[in-house]
Amino acid sequence: MKRNPKNLPTGLRLMQDPTLNKGTAFSEAEREALGLRGLVPPHVQTIDDQVKRFLITYRKRSTDLERYIDLSSLQDRNETLYYHIITKHIEDMMPMIYTPTVGLACQQFGQIFRRSHGMYISQKDRGSVAKVLRNWPRKDIRVIVVTDGERILGLGDLGANGMGIPIGKLALYTACAGIHPTQCLPVAIDVGTNNLSLLDDPLYLGMRQHRTTGETYDALVDEFIAAATEAFPKALIQFEDFANHNAFRFLNKYRDHVCTFNDDIQGTAAVALAGIYSALRITGGKLHDQRLLFFGAGEAGTGVGELMVTALKSEGLTEAEARKACWFVDSKGLIVQSRTDLNEQKLPFAQDHAPLKDPLAIIEALRPTALIGASGQPGTFTQQIIEAATRSAGRPIIFALSNPTSKAECTAARAYEWSGGAAIFASGSPFPPVEFNGKQFVPGQGNNAYIFPGVGLGIIASGSRLVTDEMFLTAARTLANLVTEADLAQGRIYPPLRQIRDVSLAIAVAVARSAERSGLATEKIPADAWNAIKALMYQPNYVSLA
Ligand code: NAI
Repeated sequence: MKRNPKNLPTGLRLMQDPTLNKGTAFSEAEREALGLRGLVPPHVQTIDDQVKRFLITYRKRSTDLERYIDLSSLQDRNETLYYHIITKHIEDMMPMIYTPTVGLACQQFGQIFRRSHGMYISQKDRGSVAKVLRNWPRKDIRVIVVTDGERILGLGDLGANGMGIPIGKLALYTACAGIHPTQCLPVAIDVGTNNLSLLDDPLYLGMRQHRTTGETYDALVDEFIAAATEAFPKALIQFEDFANHNAFRFLNKYRDHVCTFNDDIQGTAAVALAGIYSALRITGGKLHDQRLLFFGAGEAGTGVGELMVTALKSEGLTEAEARKACWFVDSKGLIVQSRTDLNEQKLPFAQDHAPLKDPLAIIEALRPTALIGASGQPGTFTQQIIEAATRSAGRPIIFALSNPTSKAECTAARAYEWSGGAAIFASGSPFPPVEFNGKQFVPGQGNNAYIFPGVGLGIIASGSRLVTDEMFLTAARTLANLVTEADLAQGRIYPPLRQIRDVSLAIAVAVARSAERSGLATEKIPADAWNAIKALMYQPNYVSLA
């Protein structure tokens, strides 16, 4: 028997490395070669035996938070098994590792913290961020997801507890698009929190100070971006859950020279646009005939609006014509030109219309074909509103995108009931199928996980230097084209999540081609891009170590 041919760590050190650990599945040969005899029970299990064992306890758990903890502990112990399980059970487990459960996990991060995962860059690291990043043991990082924790889902400022979000998103990059887990780096930039209950919480793990803002804050983010692009030159940097006032600034500041995007703005836009394309296959409408009424003019809402404008322009409309299709309501009412309080994201959508505040009056005046909720305000879509939208559109498109579930503008059941079964509904967090008037409706989940993993894989495969809007447009179209007639017949406007790996691959191929067309690709895309990119995808199965 050849001892340790791959020069791996041995014995307990090997078992404590989650990337290499197989637990009870180490083979006899591996046990012999790698000093594992006696350290694991004698019976050698298969990965399927291990899955069964994990699921027995997991399914007995009484809360989703307990299931989240089970999964994250498994991720800490044995990454292959973790990704094997979540890939196989993606429909059940995505809501555990991401929204809605991740929101709860972030809120209780200080209590459920077991083992550090990812990197924390805090105010204390100012001036030495490059040195801190060198502590990360892996060098070939391809995706970084970074948050400063200021706007976690619709839950607000959770400071360093927001780390649950980059961890969850990167788990989805691996599960949905096969980005190797060792190439992923979650980062929390900790500049404090203005959440007083966290500052008072003895178990809070972040900096105990109010948020640093202004030049000092910007300098830390600048330093992080410079250090990260230097240390990990092939990495795509995804901004996640930054507050509105920083998210747009950073996107505009870095997007022309750093390979970066903001998922709340651009990923949400692509998944919502894909939903609209699919919904139009049900209603028979045309994109240029739509009147979209957004409730919420923040990152998510205006992001969708901007991509809608890009999509309409690609169909031949002028910019002004395209903007006329997108109407916004924010916390102060309809966004119209006479308002003097509009920021630079809202201004391009200010319409020439009398000011209106009452949502019902707005719907009656505008007769929208779609309501898109991205307000973070639960209950915004009342019975009166859905009924009015149904009167004006016949079959209204109703997207209640706010996360987590508790923040959704309305539930799936309400949307179907109040529209008499006419609504084409999607939400940000999942809702179960609904029976209404003897028919089963499957609500769409406008989950960004349909988009960002595939976009990331396409960027990696093409070595794209930048991320463009065209890539999100092509991702949206690719996603919508994967929805079958059978899906549409059930009101389902996204493909089933169990097909997510193929969805991501299709998007990756389209994005890589887009990078090539725009001259941004640094890697050659072979003619058979599908198989070439597929070959890059990590498969969560054990490989022989001996
Ligand atoms: P944001 O803070 O940037 O924007 C919120 C907007 O809602 C602001 O324009 C605010 O004026 C407006 N608003 C507040 N109260 C309102 C009301 N009663 N009626 C109409 N508008 C109102 O937040 P962001 O990033 O845009 O996120 C909003 C929500 O969208 C969050 O709950 C977030 O979780 C969700 N979201 C969902 C995604 C998805 O489903 N795929 C992806 C990204 C965000």
